[in-house]
Amino acid sequence: MHLTAPDERILAGEQGYVMQKAMEILVALGDIYGADRLIPVKSTQIAGVSYKTIGDAGLEWISDLSGMVRVPSILNPAGIDRLRWRELGVSEEFAAKQEQIIDAYEKLGVVAECTCTPYHLRDDIAEIGDHLAWSESSAVSYANSVIGARTNREGGPSALAAALIGKTPNYGYHLDENRIPSLAISVEGTLSGTDYGALGYIAGRIAGARVPVFSLESVPTNDERKALGAAMAASGAVALYYIEGLAPHPPGGERDARDIRERVTIEQREIAGVYDLHRCDPDLIALGCPHCSVDELVELRDLLAGKTVTKEFWICTSRTLRDRHPDIVAGIESSGAKVICDTCMVVSPMCAQYDCMMVASGKALAYVPQMCGTDAVLGRIKDCVRAAVGGE
Ligand code: F3S
Repeated sequence: MHLTAPDERILAGEQGYVMQKAMEILVALGDIYGADRLIPVKSTQIAGVSYKTIGDAGLEWISDLSGMVRVPSILNPAGIDRLRWRELGVSEEFAAKQEQIIDAYEKLGVVAECTCTPYHLRDDIAEIGDHLAWSESSAVSYANSVIGARTNREGGPSALAAALIGKTPNYGYHLDENRIPSLAISVEGTLSGTDYGALGYIAGRIAGARVPVFSLESVPTNDERKALGAAMAASGAVALYYIEGLAPHPPGGERDARDIRERVTIEQREIAGVYDLHRCDPDLIALGCPHCSVDELVELRDLLAGKTVTKEFWICTSRTLRDRHPDIVAGIESSGAKVICDTCMVVSPMCAQYDCMMVASGKALAYVPQMCGTDAVLGRIKDCVRAAVGGE
């Protein structure tokens, strides 16, 4: 991989040990994947934040680093809501270690906003054509498939290396040749809301790591596209997908989609079947996977108006949206539901204390049993609210 003279000097250690190691990570990746050069990134989103997932080894690693990131960089969800972790039952020790991890990232100039939906915070963090180094799989899918930016699915160390250097190796989804769809998926019937997560749960298993293009009878909102991509990234490894008739389009335009030889159809009864995959009586209802947008918070406020929840009900979003919209949050919380920030129902250690979690997300349906050891059941948003207020 070609390096510029300044990058060669970083690699030689002229800017210190940490920058040298960051450059070594990028060069190693570039060499493995055949990148021709490093390209500038506009922003990074860094995984490896929750103490639950990185433990003491990760805390030690991040605490030893020094330097300053060169591009706007934010964090993936942590293991705690930084303000109400006690109320959720997190131990003092866990919270202290989690804060040490976040502090260590902040010292490197990373913004201590812990969310998988950085695109809800500010439009200019990723725009069409931008190159990024993002980690969280649903955020990667959204960046590639809804915004039309370009990012590989980075690990925590490679995203942090890209943040420190301001560049990433030019391979994978940064290149047109890897953004051409290779699987056409036709979906029968009209879908709405959680159906897109259920569709993604099925489609991810079929697609694996390929780039699918969907032919849909209904036009999804951006939140529904978020849910579709998140589920496909969890049940499979899809980092980029297209929807016929919607931007962004494949590099060769719709022509690329017409040339695809492998075609599958997903029927509505298969999508309906995802709601019946698991049956359990929820003792936690948890929404916001990926973190809720303002529109989703408004929908929940309206559904909860005049109601009182009788079960634990978490609604996960970013701290920025919570702080920007106190009236919406107050409306939701007047029902007894909790608007949780900085963390989520999967990376919080508290998920393990429940027996059955009801979710409205194909991604959470796939991850909760693995990450929490808890049964999970999929429901439409209205059904989740009904369950939370004591209904069937
Ligand atoms: Fe985000 Fe947690 Fe879901 S990181 S995508 S809310 S599993």
